[in-house]
Amino acid sequence: MVPPNSNSPEGSSNCGREMELDRIAVIGSGNWGSVAARLAATNARRLPCFQDEVRVWVYEERLSTGELLSDVINMTQENVKYLPNVKLGPNVVADPNLESAVKNATMLVFVMPHQFIDETCEMLKGKIRPDAKAISLIKGMELRDEGPRLISREINDQLGIDCSVLMGANIANEIAVEQFSEATIGFKDDKETADKWVQVFGTPYFEVTPVQDVEGVELCGTLKNIVAIAAGLVDGLGMGNNTKAAIMRIGLREMIRFSKLMFPTVQDATFFESCGVADLITTCFGGRNRKVAEAFAKHGGKRSFDELEGELLNGQKLQGVLTAAEVSSFLKAKNWEESFPLFSSVHAIATGLLPPSAIVEYAELRKIVGTPELHV
Ligand SMILES: NC(=O)c1ccc[n+]([C@@H]2O[C@H](COP(=O)([O-])OP(=O)(O)OC[C@H]3O[C@@H](n4cnc5c(N)ncnc54)[C@H](O)[C@@H]3O)[C@@H](O)[C@H]2O)c1
Repeated sequence: MVPPNSNSPEGSSNCGREMELDRIAVIGSGNWGSVAARLAATNARRLPCFQDEVRVWVYEERLSTGELLSDVINMTQENVKYLPNVKLGPNVVADPNLESAVKNATMLVFVMPHQFIDETCEMLKGKIRPDAKAISLIKGMELRDEGPRLISREINDQLGIDCSVLMGANIANEIAVEQFSEATIGFKDDKETADKWVQVFGTPYFEVTPVQDVEGVELCGTLKNIVAIAAGLVDGLGMGNNTKAAIMRIGLREMIRFSKLMFPTVQDATFFESCGVADLITTCFGGRNRKVAEAFAKHGGKRSFDELEGELLNGQKLQGVLTAAEVSSFLKAKNWEESFPLFSSVHAIATGLLPPSAIVEYAELRKIVGTPELHV
């Protein structure tokens, strides 16, 4: 059961805010969502400016045992499907009802595969506090007619609330067992709220740094998943460390180039934060995108990413292939494909236009795109 709120309102001055205690809701309960809830719950218990209870919206599903996932989480404090063997905390409440999960929440943490954000925001309209603050831990983009749109922007536009982002070298299972890592919070202009988000997530083993570059931070987290697919292909093809390092360097160059084309305000320094090179490195060596791409290459591209995702990820979702498709359609519309050979090749390989080996054969790509070079 959830303990009664033991925080005293007087203590809230320690957090630099008025008397009302902030209430945190986590929207999403996959692998990273569960770890985010665990971090937030630890700080909600520890810091006087937060209400103890952290509600987590669970996209309900029936487990193979016949039980409902939310019931099991509330009984055992464990997300047995997406984060087994890790206690989330006594103050975490799993709620399958989105409206009651976010009721009275002042701090909303969005963490779900990006393909579900649109419908979730739609369901949240009119259900959240108008003064709520949001943060997105989601890596990916929404494809719109005018080009790809960042998820933080989607949340901001659909719900009319300020949305920061948290990205970094954060493989969820490692943070769940409290191995030291870092993360970056990207914020637009509200430093006070960014500092509050640092309090929600920061612990001695999870060091969080705020940076005033929301687009740069989010694009790092999103685009590196495409590079991770390329790294996985290289692994599956049995190529060595030099090749992987080259792929990562080319990928980072495309990440910077693409980010600056979309948002000229993006800062170079952001790519040296945890959300930049550090996340790129961890994702190209661990993580689900690399893993599935490796299997794809080992099967010679004959089994689809969808099929391998279902087989290898136990309900978890792959982001890199979808992001490559979204980025590619934007590059195609702009005639910029040849300036982004790695991004374009990943998409062409994932859709069967090119074989996995084309990840290191950019001449092959030129045969199917053949557009003028853009120097950015
Ligand atoms: N897992 C990690 O290590 C990690 C680390 C950093 C960032 N991220 C990012 O966090 C985000 C969320 O990933 P995750 O690891 O928490 O999820 P996940 O891939 O582990 O799990 C999938 C989740 O999607 C939910 N779902 C399925 N259908 C849905 C629907 N129609 N509507 C809403 N939800 C639905 C499932 O219930 C489950 O909670 C992604 O953008 C991911 O890139 C993940």
